[in-house]
Amino acid sequence: MKRILVTGAGGQIGSWLVPALRELYGQDAVLATDIRPPRTELLEGGPFQLLDCTNQKALGFAAVRHHADTIYHLAALLSAVAEKDPRLAWHVNVSSLEAVLEVARDQHCAVFTPSSIGAFGPDTPKDPTPQDTLMRPTTIYGITKVTGELLCDYYHRRYGVDTRGVRYPGLISYGAPPGGGTTDWAVEIFYRAVEDGHYTCFLREDSRLDMMYMPDAVRAAIGVMEADAERLIHRNAFNITAMQLTPAELADEIRKHLPEFRIDYDVDPVRQEIADSWPDRIDDSAAREEWGWQVEFDITAMTVDMLKHIGGPAAPHGAPTSALERMPLDA
Ligand SMILES: NC(=O)c1ccc[n+]([C@@H]2O[C@H](COP(=O)([O-])OP(=O)(O)OC[C@H]3O[C@@H](n4cnc5c(N)ncnc54)[C@H](O)[C@@H]3O)[C@@H](O)[C@H]2O)c1
Repeated sequence: MKRILVTGAGGQIGSWLVPALRELYGQDAVLATDIRPPRTELLEGGPFQLLDCTNQKALGFAAVRHHADTIYHLAALLSAVAEKDPRLAWHVNVSSLEAVLEVARDQHCAVFTPSSIGAFGPDTPKDPTPQDTLMRPTTIYGITKVTGELLCDYYHRRYGVDTRGVRYPGLISYGAPPGGGTTDWAVEIFYRAVEDGHYTCFLREDSRLDMMYMPDAVRAAIGVMEADAERLIHRNAFNITAMQLTPAELADEIRKHLPEFRIDYDVDPVRQEIADSWPDRIDDSAAREEWGWQVEFDITAMTVDMLKHIGGPAAPHGAPTSALERMPLDA
């Protein structure tokens, strides 16, 4: 039986991951925590605790009381928000991870920490971006992500903590809104298409970035934590990918369902510069070989499912299904 503590559980990923973990391991087995009260009903149906996870003592108490053996550490500031306050980003992203790793070392917990395509920089090969390559990010977000990967690997090598992670591409989902990243446009575009028939995108029409639909992202988090440790050559963190999209291409795909949809562009130089420094397509062969990673949603399936769930024409009566129905798990 797993006993899981999730930090940053009220965010875009947590609001999907927590219900999936609860369905898999039991409602009471998963303690959701966040610095803010959850905005979403998805966190109902199991224990929730307000917790600032940069506070190692409070985190340690919560882990002990819950008898946690696994921590999914999701709390972080995302790329665009981090750029507005780099020192806060360093504090939240790095101090919280240090606290999580110390608690994990003390309490013998396994740790999942997401990294990001933001860990790569403008000098990294862009297409494809290898698993092991040059990582010189130019954003504070990327710097905290590379630091996090190295720190997690260090705790594994030095103290034997079972640390694992994936480098997520931009994540597309409905429900909890994205938390201020460079790929938020790929979520906003669906809501604006359905509600207004029009979207003004903050990136150039030809900005190609790696993206993934949230059900695949959740399967990846659970899949890498369930993987046989003996087979893992890498740990922090595995490249994973699903699709490579430009705003113009996604707009074309949406127009197959909403022919009147219009997109225009008002480029935000800060987010454009971040996007330009990230890969076009990352090579996820290590994840496939070492723990059997496989993607399920391509651009066509993702677009149909997004429109179905946010009230578009693809399936107007699409009521939200249960977490595991939404995300078929191999586990
Ligand atoms: N969403 C994406 O597209 C994406 C892509 C790559 C990597 N990631 C990574 O995945 C993780 C989760 O991302 P997300 O999209 O769910 O982010 P999010 O911004 O939607 O959610 C983060 C959550 O952390 C909470 N939080 C912030 N500071 C905290 C603190 N001190 N203590 C406790 N909670 C705190 C926030 O309240 C929020 O609910 C992050 O590490 C992020 O870098 C996300």
